[in-house]
Amino acid sequence: MTSIRVKPHLGAIERPRAGVDSRLQSLRLDKNERMGGYSRELLDSVLKSISAETLNVYPEPEPIYRRLAAEHNLPIESFLLTHGADGAIRTTFEICDWSRGNEVVCLDPTFAMVGVYCDIFNVQPVLIGYEFRGNALPALDVEAMIRAISPSTSLVILANPNSPTGTLIEQPDLERVIAAAGEVGALVLIDETYYDFSGFTMASRVAAHDNLLIARSLSKGMGLAGLRIGYLIAAGSAARAAFALKPMYEVNNVALQFALALMDRSEEIESYAAAIKGSQSSLSDYCRARGIGFLPTGANFCYIHTGARTEAILQLCQERRILIRAGMGIRGYEQWLRVSLVPEEELKPFFDALEGAGD
Ligand SMILES: Cc1ncc(COP(=O)(O)O)c(C=O)c1O
Repeated sequence: MTSIRVKPHLGAIERPRAGVDSRLQSLRLDKNERMGGYSRELLDSVLKSISAETLNVYPEPEPIYRRLAAEHNLPIESFLLTHGADGAIRTTFEICDWSRGNEVVCLDPTFAMVGVYCDIFNVQPVLIGYEFRGNALPALDVEAMIRAISPSTSLVILANPNSPTGTLIEQPDLERVIAAAGEVGALVLIDETYYDFSGFTMASRVAAHDNLLIARSLSKGMGLAGLRIGYLIAAGSAARAAFALKPMYEVNNVALQFALALMDRSEEIESYAAAIKGSQSSLSDYCRARGIGFLPTGANFCYIHTGARTEAILQLCQERRILIRAGMGIRGYEQWLRVSLVPEEELKPFFDALEGAGD
């Protein structure tokens, strides 16, 4: 008997299951999600506009496409709505012509799905690591990244700011990476999932570079993680290829309605981002007053040095239903806690756990 025609390499990929039924009853400081913070008026107006028809009718994304085109001052053809930034990353893997080279130059560590897509598409990650820097965020060797780009490279992918490192690559270095990739015909995907907090974007450069793509998320600053919506920005043949891969309907009507309402009320995003900065300074003050190491980032998370107390704090957090992670996946940061920033008033149980775990 012949074996069935399933791609054999997929059988070797291990994907974890969610593990828990719900995280809703916990203080969620583990996945950099938004915590509430919408005005009652916004929630009520969108919820009221959701009717049986919203569910009955196939999705109507054109108003969002027009809105994105106006916001970025780019043609409507530059955009593809996706299933979160995750969907934008997957689409980029799908448009790559892997027959011309099967290497993906990427950061290590970075968003876990980058490695998963390398496995799914059966291509080779070329990992550019970071260096431990003691009392600072880790350092990236951009020269090493540029040197790693070769005729075998079809894609360079970098999250900016990156997660979990919280590090940001500045525009001059990005331009050099894009130029080096362009010389070998490789695409560069800049994942700007944390844009609402960093305020830094390369979106205006897609018109100048036909190998540049930008992934955006509505999960973090906009808080629509549960609705799964994001988008890809590109120009020319990359944009056409991405749009060719569009499913019949790219995102659902409820996600579209919330997205449009939030895009029309930028103050809802700005005030949340300001609250997150406030929360970051309170944590920073708390740490400074106690001589605890603190690393801010340009995203909605920060690092706290918990040293020898790390295990005790993690244990207490688990008992008190506080979801949090230690380490960064880089040697040297094992005793740093990564704290997703939420509005300060929600952080009290976490401060209590920090105090409760003793010296
Ligand atoms: C760097 C980075 N990229 C992409 C994502 C996925 O975002 P989305 O929810 O829009 O798929 C995450 C989620 O945490 C992330 O940290």
